[in-house]
Amino acid sequence: MKAVVAGASGGIGQPLSLLLKACPLVDHLSLYDVVNTPGVTADLSHISSVAKIEGFLPADDGMKKALTGADMVVIPAGIPRKPGMTRDDLFKINAGIVKGLIEGIAEHCPDAYILVISNPVNSTVPIAAEVLTNAGKFNPKKLFGVTTLDVVRAETFVQSITGAKDPADTKIPVIGGHSGETIVPLFSQAKPEVKIPEDKLDELTKRVQFGGDEVVKAKDGAGSATLSMAYAGFRFAERVMQAAKGKSGIVEPTFVYLPGIEGGDAIAKETGCKYFSVPVELGKEGAVKANNPLGMANEYEKKLLQACYDGLKGNIEKGVEFVKNPP
Ligand code: NAD
Ligand code: LMR
Repeated sequence: MKAVVAGASGGIGQPLSLLLKACPLVDHLSLYDVVNTPGVTADLSHISSVAKIEGFLPADDGMKKALTGADMVVIPAGIPRKPGMTRDDLFKINAGIVKGLIEGIAEHCPDAYILVISNPVNSTVPIAAEVLTNAGKFNPKKLFGVTTLDVVRAETFVQSITGAKDPADTKIPVIGGHSGETIVPLFSQAKPEVKIPEDKLDELTKRVQFGGDEVVKAKDGAGSATLSMAYAGFRFAERVMQAAKGKSGIVEPTFVYLPGIEGGDAIAKETGCKYFSVPVELGKEGAVKANNPLGMANEYEKKLLQACYDGLKGNIEKGVEFVKNPP
């Protein structure tokens, strides 16, 4: 398994690269960034784990060297929010960064699993799909928007109610997109079942939807979630790799192009959104089946879903347009 981190020198990229370097599923770790990869690579190379490590800058065909032969590319490249910004405010800069990296992937490692972390995920994943389509290389089963941090937050925040010793033992589908009201935690479908007092539900739901703002505010201009995102990004990447190596029964919420995945068409029809985060079964080919949790949503969640659809459609369209009719 050759894993690449694109944006490896950043706040997410460094701890994510550390976790991948320490992961026995990774044989070869390749770090790519526009700055500082020699230092990050030298530092991580002293860790006595199995993964061989290399680092590249854009000079001397660095992107090509970093990507060639990759089985999985994780992309946390791009600017983070500052207080007062929405994720959509990042579009102007990050859309071009993601487009450039996906063009490189289409050319040098089109069969890799692609995990997009760069915000706004609701738009950067459609950008990636459009770029890959134009290159004749789009495989919807292998393109994932990473929304695992929303799941991790839901597990963590609900623990004060469940009292579970290990928060990760409570499975909560968090669906929709990855920003504010497009994030929809389905606490009614938690496993094992969770009874949330009515007066706590709104607060809990809002905390999951706006958990990113909490960190942006606390960091006070120094960026957004990096360490918890590295944890979440690694957790998702590890599950993709486990499934690639033949482990069955892995289901994770992730933002995918629904019409390209078994079971996805019905969800796209019901939501009016071609891209949506739903619990997806992972296999060797990537996303092999999209599970539909919509029918089991309760009345409270149905209202949340309506707001989600309304916001998400515009975000998706903006990403598609960026590639179809470049500004
Ligand atoms: P950061 O500024 O610390 O790091 C970004 C890195 O990307 C930098 O090292 C930069 O040099 C690099 N970069 C910029 N252009 C590049 C290019 N063309 N090719 C390769 N590398 C390039 O930012 P961060 O805190 O690590 O956040 C990165 C992105 O992840 C942001 O867009 C942020 O909003 C997003 N994010 C997403 C989630 C999520 O849940 N999906 C969570 C947290 C942050
Ligand atoms: C998050 O959810 O923490 C990330 O999307 C970063 C952000 O901008 O909030």
